[in-house]
Amino acid sequence: EKGGYEHFMFKEIMEQPKAFRDTISPRIQDGRVVLEGLNLTAEDLKALDKIYVIACGSSYHVGMAAKYTLERLLRKPVEVTLASEFRYCDPIVTPRTLALVISQSGETIDTLAAMREARRLGARLLSIVNVVGSTIARESDDVLYTWAGPEIAVATTKAYSTQLAVIYLIGLCFADLMGTITPEEYAAVVEELQNIPDKMEEILSHREDIQYFASIYFNHPSIFFIGRNIDYAVGLEGSLKLKEISYIHSEAYAAGELKHGTISLIEPGTLVVALASYGKLFEKLMSNVVEVKSRGADVLGVTTASLEEEMAKTVDHAIAVPDTHPMLLPSLDVVPLQLFAYYVALMRGCDIDKPRNLAKSVTVE
Ligand code: M6R
Repeated sequence: EKGGYEHFMFKEIMEQPKAFRDTISPRIQDGRVVLEGLNLTAEDLKALDKIYVIACGSSYHVGMAAKYTLERLLRKPVEVTLASEFRYCDPIVTPRTLALVISQSGETIDTLAAMREARRLGARLLSIVNVVGSTIARESDDVLYTWAGPEIAVATTKAYSTQLAVIYLIGLCFADLMGTITPEEYAAVVEELQNIPDKMEEILSHREDIQYFASIYFNHPSIFFIGRNIDYAVGLEGSLKLKEISYIHSEAYAAGELKHGTISLIEPGTLVVALASYGKLFEKLMSNVVEVKSRGADVLGVTTASLEEEMAKTVDHAIAVPDTHPMLLPSLDVVPLQLFAYYVALMRGCDIDKPRNLAKSVTVE
């Protein structure tokens, strides 16, 4: 049942190209995104005052990436909130608010409670769910399923990737309806979206490089992830993945925040994973890398193939993902981080599929 692999997590990492393809293919017809099960009209969308993303854990991290993507595409405010906070923050929700609920299991109690509150306040509920017929799916106005198949490992991988895929589809579909995307950009993103599975495959085929980096760093007591914009959103996920299964203390920071406190924690030998795939902010991020290097940090960089050579001048080791449309970078960047967490946990002898104190579906508040 583990497909010949030692762990479900590894099997699920390897399944990502297929899961991503299964999620997007039925929804792209003749170069157009077609979302069955979504009954929002152009008028509904134009009238929206805000999109409120509600989720927990990794699903919340998808929401963080979604904020950058959807705000750019739709020019509507997107607020991302942890479901466990939503109910207690007196949220500003109106009948013109769209609550975008993200959950693999569809049973997370915090998320469910928050969406019920959003409904009570008048929001329309659109959910992205993996488990068909789950409570969150049943209680939503509209549901878009991620076709990832059953996910067994506690640490989510293929559900995260397919949730991101659905975010891109939603972004394209809404932007098209609202007239906020040019036909050229629409066509370019739709085309590139279909290349993502092959590009994921390429990263997976070089997994031994990541295994090697894991063998160098698996004993580090503390690891920091830094990035800006979508690279920051992916850093949050890379950090959670690592701490969840390897029990290494880890934190993710928006790179520009380092100088406001965290940089005091950087000492000789601290590992910093620097995400610099977003070309527009590459130079800015590299200036943060120089800051941590000068304080003695070891830096493992993640960037795109076209920037790898430039990055390699400054970092200790560079990991390159294939170039893609900037909006889609999180889908590729996350893969080496999942592999890194997996190999580090493996080398530390951790119970990878069932990390201590954690459950796959969190049905208590
Ligand atoms: O099933 P959900 O997507 O609602 O679950 C949310 C979180 O509990 C989940 O993403 C958790 O953070 C994962 N174990 C992370 O790998």
